[in-house]
Formats: sequence, C-alpha cells, structure tokens
Amino acid sequence: MMLEEGSMPRALLVDDDPISLAALAELIEHEGFAATTAKTLGEGHKHLADASADVVLTDLVLPDGSGLELVDAEAGSVPVVLITGHASVETAVEALRRGAADYLTKPVDLARLKAILANVTRTRDLRAEIGSLRGALRKLGHFGPLVGASAAMGAVYDLIARVAPTDATVCIVGESGTGKEMVAQAVHELSRRRKGAFVPVNCGAVSPTLIESLLFGHEKGSFTGAERTHRGVFEQATGGTLFLDEVTEMPIELQVKLLRVLETGLVTRVGGEAASPIDVRVVAASNRVPEHAVQDGRLRQDLWYRLNVFPIALPPLRERSGDVALLAEHFLAELNRTEGTAKRWSGDALATLQRYAWPGNVRELKNVVCRAYILAGGEIGVGDLPADVAGAAAAAVPAVAERVRAVEPAALGTTLTVRVGSSVAAVEQRLIMATLTACSGNKQKAADILGVSLKTIYNRLNSYRENRAA
Ligand SMILES: Nc1ncnc2c1ncn2[C@@H]1O[C@H](COP(=O)(O)OP(=O)(O)OP(=O)(O)O)[C@@H](O)[C@H]1O
Ligand SMILES: [Mg+2]
Repeated sequence: MMLEEGSMPRALLVDDDPISLAALAELIEHEGFAATTAKTLGEGHKHLADASADVVLTDLVLPDGSGLELVDAEAGSVPVVLITGHASVETAVEALRRGAADYLTKPVDLARLKAILANVTRTRDLRAEIGSLRGALRKLGHFGPLVGASAAMGAVYDLIARVAPTDATVCIVGESGTGKEMVAQAVHELSRRRKGAFVPVNCGAVSPTLIESLLFGHEKGSFTGAERTHRGVFEQATGGTLFLDEVTEMPIELQVKLLRVLETGLVTRVGGEAASPIDVRVVAASNRVPEHAVQDGRLRQDLWYRLNVFPIALPPLRERSGDVALLAEHFLAELNRTEGTAKRWSGDALATLQRYAWPGNVRELKNVVCRAYILAGGEIGVGDLPADVAGAAAAAVPAVAERVRAVEPAALGTTLTVRVGSSVAAVEQRLIMATLTACSGNKQKAADILGVSLKTIYNRLNSYRENRAA
C-alpha cells in the first residue's frame, strides 16, 4: 500500500525569536499543517529554493532584512502572510499591495490565524480553477463573462486572477463604459465570497442626506421618516462583495466615516450605539482619475490610499486592438440567441466598426449593435450603423435614425432632446429606437412601455427600413 506522502499542507515559518517561532509552529501543526521553521530571511529563501511550501508566515522585522522581501520573491507562487509587531495600517496596506495574502498582528489572534490557514487550502483550489479557466477560455477570446482577446485585456485578466482569491481591496479605474462593473463582478465570482451577495452602490447617484444610512444602515426613529430599522449595504454584503461605484463622488464628510469603517472593520448604524464587525470585500470604481479628485480636494487622500490597495486600470476600447469585432460578434450572437434569429455582420460593417474611436467604449458599441440589429434584415450593413460611426460613407444616407447616437447609457429614463422644428414622425422614430435599445431589442417590452401594440412596432420598423432603402 502506498502512503499518501505530501497530502498534508506545508507551512514555512520565519521568525528570529525562537519562543514565538515554537509557539507558532505548535499552533500551525495543530491546524493540520507540517511546519518548517527558519530564523532568518536567508534561511527562509534557502528553504523555499530546496522545497516548496503551501503557505509562508513571516515576521516583518528579521535580522537580515524585511519579511516584505519574501512577499516580493514568493507572493506569485506561494501565499505569504506577514506578521507585524505593531498594528500599523501602512505596513499592512504595503504588504497587501506587494502581493501578501494577508497579515497578522502580534500577539497572533488564534481565530484569525485559523481563518487564514483554512483559506490557504481553499485558495489553492480556487487558483487551480482560475488557472484552467484562464487557459481554456482565453483561447476563445474571453475570461468568464468578459469578452476580449487583446493584450490589454489579457493583462487585466491576469490581475483579476491574481487578486480575486484574496480579500484585498480592489480599485478599478477606467473611462465610462469600459466594463468596470463587469470586472468587479468577475472579481466577486472568482473569489471565495461568490456564494455571498454582490452589492453595488453608486455613490454619486444617492442624495448626500441618504447615503450615510444607505451605507451603514439606521436604527428605527433615528431621524424623521426612519420608521423601521434599516440594514446598510455593509451588512447586506456580509460574506460577499461591496461594490462602491463612482467613489470620487461621495460627499467628503462621509469619506471620513467610510475610512473609519474600513480601518476598524466595524460599522455603526445611524442612531445606533453598538458597532458590529463587518465581513465584506470592497471593490471600488471610478471613471475619473482619482488622483485628480484628490488634488481637487474631492477625494480624501487617506481614503484613496486605503481603497487603492490593488489597482486595475481598464483600457479604453480604442486601445484594445481586435476586440471591437469580437465584441460586435458576441453582442449580435446574444441578440440572435434571445430573439431566435440568425442575423449576421457584413464585412464592410465590421470593418467600419473597427475604424471608429468609441468614446463611449463597450457600452456604446453594445448600443450600436443593438440598434443595427433592430434595423437590419438578414445582413447588417454599413447603412444600419449611426452616421458618426459609419463616418463619411453613411453621411449621404438621409435616415433620421442614423443621426441619433447612443453614447449615453441606453437605460430607461435616458433623455432625448427634441429640437423644435422636428417632425412628429422623426421624434417618434427616435423615441421608438431609444426605447427598443433600452429594452435590448425586446419589441414586446418596448411596445408595453410605449403604450402601443406590438404590431405598431413591427410596422414602424418596416417603414424605417423601407425609407432607408429608398
Ligand atoms: N469585456 C466585456 N465583454 C462583454 N461585455 C462587456 C465588456 N465590457 C463591458 N461590457 C458591457 O458593456 C456595458 C457597460 O459595462 P459596465 O457597466 O461594466 O461599464 P462601466 O465601466 O461600469 O461604465 P460606467 O463608468 O458608465 O459606469 C455593460 O452592458 C456590459 O455588460
Ligand atoms: Mg459602472
């Protein structure tokens, strides 16, 4: 019979104090790990060169250097947990930024140590899963729900794969419509928190008076109108991920409170007494350059420092060479699938899409695909694209629909500006097209919203097509 050698996970402990070292080794062996010890950075490096480990726990201050050096050398292959003597947020943030799996403060909290060690095994499994996802799916030009095979997106996939299994705070910066929310969701889906909730909050869209209670919750009777106790998003996202979107738009007074919650790991409801611990992974996003917001005094530097532990910069669509066609095919295939059709791109139309600069990024492309899909018969031609996308080629085509560009999010509630002097028919056409786009091409839904029959929608679309062909 063969003994299953090596099935026990291995930990390397590095500390120059023999008493802490022995105590830690005992704790770790009790958790089912085989522990090896080293007293210096040099010994630690040597051990890792000779034999591998599943986790490294290292003291920050060592006789021959800093434990951070082990983080730099090993964090890509082995999770490194840093142990610091003083509870210094700066050091912890620095360690996470450089790729440490986690950090512990002395004296070591047994519950936290246990949680970290339990995660080591789970993280090992997750990493294996992500590795295969990366290999298999990237060949097909996507990573999870994210479509794109460009080098620029490849770099983003690598960052997501690295950070997702950890609990590190992620900050996503990119122009509007580049897919920040999708990336945030991918980070959540590939983390051990995926069974928990993904809770998005748009910090710019909530009134300053309500956002505090939205974030932290409130107790019944804490202000006029607070008729019952309300759980804030930090509580709702317990065990999951909190997505703080447009974080530079948060009122400055609230940024102080948010920072305190992130630093202490405790949240207190508005009007409440007791603070409760939070168990939330934070992902923040902004479509402005956060450093500018810091300079302008709209974003607190300390909060920015705390959020920007692991930055991911999403490239604009115009810098993702080759992805426009891939995305256009993807969005068309989605529409064909839901509508049961088999529309296809003409070579000219695809080439036209690839020449355009896409100031509204992937969202703009998605809207353009949706509009073209609605307008086209079997094959989508250049004539089905809006004038500014089609450029000079389409400028001669006098169809009203083509003058309407959907740069803004095609969401219900989007505003259309109507020029006095337009014909009722032209305005009607724009409204129908915008509503259809907002409904992702679902004609029945658009008809219901517009209060007309489905037949009317079909008739109008036919006449738009005929007008264009004429
Ligand atoms: N790589 C991608 N693959 C497939 N769909 C994508 C991709 N990137 C973005 N999308 C789609 O484009 C739209 C915009 O994406 P998302 O909402 O994530 O952008 P955003 O960066 O958060 O924009 P904003 O700054 O305006 O909030 C969504 O419908 C999303 O599904
Ligand atoms: Mg967004």
